Amino acid sequence: MKKNIESVLTESRVFAPPPAFVAEARLKAHDLTALHQRAAADPQNFWAELARTEIAWHTPFTVTLDDRAAPNFRWFTDGELNVSYNCLDLQLAQNADQLAIIFEGEPGDVRTLTYRELHADVCRFANALKARGIRRGDRVVIYMPLVPEAVVAMQACARIGAIHSVVFGGFSALSLKERIEDAGARCVITADGGHRGGNIVELKAATDKALTEGCASVDTVYVLRRTGATVPMQLGRDLWWHEAIEGQAEVCEPEWVDAEHPLFLLYTSGSTGRPKGIQHSSAGYLLGAKLTSRWVFDLRSDDVLWCTADVGWITGHSYVAYGPLAAGATLVMYEGAPTYPDGGRFWRICGQHGVTVFYTAPTAIRALMKLGDELPAKYDLSKIRLLGSVGEPINPEAWMWYHRVIGGGRCPIVDTWWQTETGAIMISPIPGVTSTKPGSCTQPLPGIFADIVDDEGRSVTMPDAGGYLVIRKPWPSMLRTIWGDNDRYLETYWKKFQHRLYVAGDSAHRDADGCFWIMGRIDDVLNVAGHRLGTMEIESALVAHPRIAEAAVVSRQHEIKGESVFAFVVCRGARPTGDTKEFEKELRDWVAEQLGAIAKPDDIRFADNLPKTRSGKIMRRLLRAIARGETITQDVSTLENPAIIEQLRGH
Ligand code: WTA
Repeated sequence: MKKNIESVLTESRVFAPPPAFVAEARLKAHDLTALHQRAAADPQNFWAELARTEIAWHTPFTVTLDDRAAPNFRWFTDGELNVSYNCLDLQLAQNADQLAIIFEGEPGDVRTLTYRELHADVCRFANALKARGIRRGDRVVIYMPLVPEAVVAMQACARIGAIHSVVFGGFSALSLKERIEDAGARCVITADGGHRGGNIVELKAATDKALTEGCASVDTVYVLRRTGATVPMQLGRDLWWHEAIEGQAEVCEPEWVDAEHPLFLLYTSGSTGRPKGIQHSSAGYLLGAKLTSRWVFDLRSDDVLWCTADVGWITGHSYVAYGPLAAGATLVMYEGAPTYPDGGRFWRICGQHGVTVFYTAPTAIRALMKLGDELPAKYDLSKIRLLGSVGEPINPEAWMWYHRVIGGGRCPIVDTWWQTETGAIMISPIPGVTSTKPGSCTQPLPGIFADIVDDEGRSVTMPDAGGYLVIRKPWPSMLRTIWGDNDRYLETYWKKFQHRLYVAGDSAHRDADGCFWIMGRIDDVLNVAGHRLGTMEIESALVAHPRIAEAAVVSRQHEIKGESVFAFVVCRGARPTGDTKEFEKELRDWVAEQLGAIAKPDDIRFADNLPKTRSGKIMRRLLRAIARGETITQDVSTLENPAIIEQLRGH
C-alpha cells in the first residue's frame, strides 16, 4: 500500500433504523435479503430483471452482458431507449402536475416547474439544438450556474442523443478549454453569469476566453440570461437561449439510441496531469441512478429531495438531473453558497420548501456545524426524514451533529460511497434496514460485489485490516471507458489485478460486522472539500508560473475541507525570504486562474530544492509527513540533500 493505513477507528455506537422510519420504508429487511440472494445466485439475471421492470425500452434487449471485450463491459446491448423519455414522458401520464423542480436562486428568486413544464422546456430546447444541426453523438459542453436550465440542457441532449459534458462553473477558462478540446465539442451552453457568495461568476467571459485560445471544434454557443449582465455576443456563433427556444414546439420525438450509446462524459482528476473524460452509457447508467434513488433515498412521489451537489459533479448528475426524475420525485435546486447571506440559508431552504430527504457533503456539514446549533434551530426541519452524506469520509463528530441537530435524532443517515466512475451509489446503508455507525458507509448494495484485497488480490478477511477497495463483478452503471484513451482506462482501473478486479483507488477496511470504512485515496488524488483534485494538475499549474522552477503538492488534514492543498515550491533564482505573503497570494491567484479557485493551495512553502531520492523521484510521503506536522519515519539517508528537511519544515 502506498499510504500508511491510519489507526483503525474504534467506533462502538450503533444506530438501528428508527422504528417510525422502518414502518413506512419502501424497502423492508426481507426485500433487501431477497435482493441480495437473487444477486448472489445469478448476478446477470438479477440485473436483467431489474432492467426490464425499471426501464421503458423502445426495443427490448436480449443480451444482458457482453463481456467479450472485458474489462470493457457492455450491458443490454441490443436494447434501444431514450433516457429523457424515461425521466420525463413516463411521468406525464400520472404525475404531470407534480412539481419536478423547486428552484431557489441565490438572490432569493424562487421558481417551480411541474413535470409537464419541465418536459415542455426540455423539448423546446432539444428542438432548438436540432434546428442548429446538433445531433446524435455530437458533444455538447455545459458550463452553467446551478439553475433549472442546466438540467433542461442535460435532458435535452439526452433527448436528441447528443453527448453532454458538464464542466463545473468553478473551473477556470483554461480548464474549460482543455475539456472542450478533449471532448471535441461543437457546442457550449453557458450563461451571462451565475450568483455565488454575493458575487457574479462570469461564465460567458470564461467561455469567450477558452474559445479565443483554442476550441476550433465549437461553432455554437448558447447563452442563458441569468444575471442580466451585459456580455458580448459573437455574431453567427452565440445565441441567446430565450431567442433560440422562441417558437420551438413543446414536443420533441425522442431519439432512440442503443443501450450503450454514451449519455455523457464527465471529466475528473486522476494521478497524471490531464483530467480524464469518464464515459457513461445510457441504459446501464439510468438503471443505476434510478434504482439507487429509490433504494437509498427511499423516494416516493411525495418526497422533496435536496441533493446540494452542483450538476458539474457526478452527484449532481445521478441525484439531481437523472435519478430522482426517473423515480418521479420532486427536487430542490439552489444556485448559491451555503452561507449566503448567512449560515442559516440551507436550513431555511429545507424548511421553506418542505425538504424531506437532504443529501450533502461532510465538508458542508462541518462548516455549518462550526456555526453552532442556534442557526438550524431557527428553522423548521421537521419534514426531513432522511439524511445523506457523500464525497469523503464523514468524521464521527460531524455525523453525530448531523444526526442530532439536523435530523432531530429521528432520521437515518445514509453515508454513501461511490465515484464518478461507478455512476451510482455502491456502498451504503438501506435506510429502513441497515444499522449504521458514524463514519462507516456500511455494506454494498445488492448486485455490487465490493471487496477489500491485499497486493495479490486476495480478499482481506481479518477484521480491521486494510487493503484496496475493489469491485469483483461488472455492474450496469459502471464507466465504459475514458473518452479517447482506452489504454488509460485499462491502466488506471484494471491493470493492477490483471483485468480481474475494478480498482477504485481507495483504501478501506472492514470491521467484525462486515461494515466498510473508507480510509482515503491510495493514488495522488486529493479530496478537498469533497472535490477530486490531481496533485500533478496543481503542480503543472504552479510550474507554468514564470518564477516557479519546481513544485510538489500534497495534502494535509483540514478541519472543514477534510484535506487542503499544501504546495512546496522551488523558485527560479533565489528562494524568496522575509515577507512572502504578497507572492504567495500571487501564486494562489495564479492557480485559481489556471485551474479554478477550488485548487488554490492553503499552504505554500518555499525551498531551495525538493527532497528526492538518488534516482530523482520526489519523496512525496516525506513531504506529506512534513505538511501534516508528523514525525518523520521515512528513511532519509537516500536524500540528495538531507539538510533540506529543516527548510521544508519552515524553520
Ligand atoms: C471519496 C463522488 C468516504 C472516495 C461521488 C472516492 C468517499 C471519491 C465517499 C470519489 C464516502 C466518495 N466515504 N469517501 N461516503 N464518497 N468518497 O468521483 O475517495 O467526485 O474514491 O465521486 O470520493 O469522488 P467523486
